[in-house]
Amino acid sequence: MNIILLGPPGAGKGTQARRLVEERGMIQLSTGDMLREARTSGTEMGNKVAAIMDSGQLVTDEIVIGLIEEKLNGDHGGGFIFDGFPRTLAQADALGALLTSHDATLDAVIEMSVDDEALVSRITARSTCGACGEVYNDETKPIPTDGKCTNCGGTEFKRRADDNADSLKTRLMEYYKKTSPLLGYYYAKGDLTSVNGLGEIEEVASAISAVLK
Ligand code: AP5
Repeated sequence: MNIILLGPPGAGKGTQARRLVEERGMIQLSTGDMLREARTSGTEMGNKVAAIMDSGQLVTDEIVIGLIEEKLNGDHGGGFIFDGFPRTLAQADALGALLTSHDATLDAVIEMSVDDEALVSRITARSTCGACGEVYNDETKPIPTDGKCTNCGGTEFKRRADDNADSLKTRLMEYYKKTSPLLGYYYAKGDLTSVNGLGEIEEVASAISAVLK
């Protein structure tokens, strides 16, 4: 089964994708994570990507499509969760073509809808485990009091450079201008289901499970 988690920054895509990996053995393909890895490479491409991400704008279609193409050639496991990809109509067309060329289908596109006010407070309170990427939130899922990650026991936690009010404004604008047209694109194909991303993490997970049944 191959699915897309679609939603604005902070909607909870990464949080839910990690659960699906654990529960269903699916493979999470987060273009954000791949780009964060690329930016630490010290290459010219990595430096260019870092500047774009920190500003909150989208990286070029060519770069992200290339990253996804490489992953689709690898292990398919229990299917792919596309997290943060596609983000433009060109990326959506490219994904369709890539899946077809691998004799694969897109089984569901799940929109996680959350209002802007909640997104701001989620993003500015987010941190992640430096070792395994487990996602925490100062208000809703704080780092345990013993300072150890519940998933791997890691003791270093990071905040993202683009998790600030200025970048977030640009990220939201980019979402509404370039990514939200995908809702109509997938609705027209009969693939889109919306879930309320404002509930508790468990409630959102149940809503997603119900879609995937
Ligand atoms: P990316 O890394 O994809 O970031 P994003 O889309 O902005 O999404 P986030 O990771 O910020 O949020 P999320 O929805 O995963 O939420 P999370 O689960 O962490 O992209 C970063 C940048 O890379 C882009 O700006 C762009 O420059 C570039 N890029 C990436 N992909 C690209 C592409 N395809 N094309 C071009 N450029 C691309 O949750 C957020 C917080 O909320 C956490 O603290 C969490 O604990 C909390 N939380 C989660 N669920 C709940 C809940 N139900 N209730 C309460 N709190 C919750």
